[in-house]
Amino acid sequence: MNPRIEINYSKLVHNTKVLQKQAKEHGIDLAAVTKSFCGIPEIAQGYVDGGVKYLADSRVSNLKKLKKLPIPKVLLRIPMLTEVQEVVAYADISLNSEMETIRNLNIAARDLGVNHKIVLMVDLGDLREGIFEEEEVIEAANEVEGLSNIILHGIGVNLTCYGGVIPSAKNLSKLEALGGAIEKEIGRNLELYSGGNSSSIYLLDRKCMPERINHLRLGEAIVLGTESAYGEKIENTHQDIFQLVAEIIELKEKPSMPIGDIGMDAFGNTPSFEDEGIRKRAILAVGRQDIGSYDVFPVEAGMKILGASSDHLILDLTDAYGDYKIGDEIRFNLRYGALLSLMTSEYVTKKIIY
Ligand SMILES: Cc1ncc(COP(=O)(O)O)c(C=O)c1O
Repeated sequence: MNPRIEINYSKLVHNTKVLQKQAKEHGIDLAAVTKSFCGIPEIAQGYVDGGVKYLADSRVSNLKKLKKLPIPKVLLRIPMLTEVQEVVAYADISLNSEMETIRNLNIAARDLGVNHKIVLMVDLGDLREGIFEEEEVIEAANEVEGLSNIILHGIGVNLTCYGGVIPSAKNLSKLEALGGAIEKEIGRNLELYSGGNSSSIYLLDRKCMPERINHLRLGEAIVLGTESAYGEKIENTHQDIFQLVAEIIELKEKPSMPIGDIGMDAFGNTPSFEDEGIRKRAILAVGRQDIGSYDVFPVEAGMKILGASSDHLILDLTDAYGDYKIGDEIRFNLRYGALLSLMTSEYVTKKIIY
């Protein structure tokens, strides 16, 4: 069924292995992030086959789907108070920054008869989740140590996602120092120093990852083969594991300029156009309800995306090489935003190619 997203399983395993090997050489374990494909277990199996130590997702509902896969699960988004019971049931480890939530996790873990591991998140300037003040970090660590069913497993940071702050030897050294201060206070070592996401991976290449960082949580780097600090491709990885395939439903020659007074388009924006004369235009049966943004790129050279409404994607095929007809399929590579939306859309078939 079209539109569909094709997932190349062996390429996913390859990317996972490449990053896993690189991380291992630096003494780092990987949590491979499953949210971009909504935690579909058959796809996550590729991460397991690629040898990562943990699976991670921001939503408990996805971790629930992954229950049968045989490696520990990490909850990435700090928990809601209303989901603590599910968190302790489906996540082995969760990232946390609020004592009230941690106290509630403790109650839920005690009620379930389990011990739950947490990673205390600190904010090193990106201004998303994490405790900001050093004294508060130490206070929190001390209190967690006193809880009956919560284990302070480590310390972590997230960078780049909100404030665009790039991980560096300097800011990640602060994580090390804070971890050291906690260890001194509680009288034992922390197991995990979780140094961020796909924006931290470039520090491995440059050989300037601080020594105690022993854990990264990678999504984009594995699924798209790109690091997210500078948007560079990662050597020896695939960028086309996930491809959108959409079908031509109309193919006609039309002028490039609409005819009539221009008001707002379907999304409230006022479009502008250049007069390029008569062009060969294709309409594909996929739209912004599925792709979200314009983060899709035709694989074949010479095609140009003209625009999209909720259910239609309009392409200029005038300069494309192929001789297209109705029913033909057009293939696209994706950036992260479109990948998220397409995998979430119930109108898009997901097909794993083994
Ligand atoms: C806390 C946390 N860690 C790691 C990730 C993975 O990020 P990326 O896909 O950039 O590797 C995310 C988001 O998916 C996240 O929210």
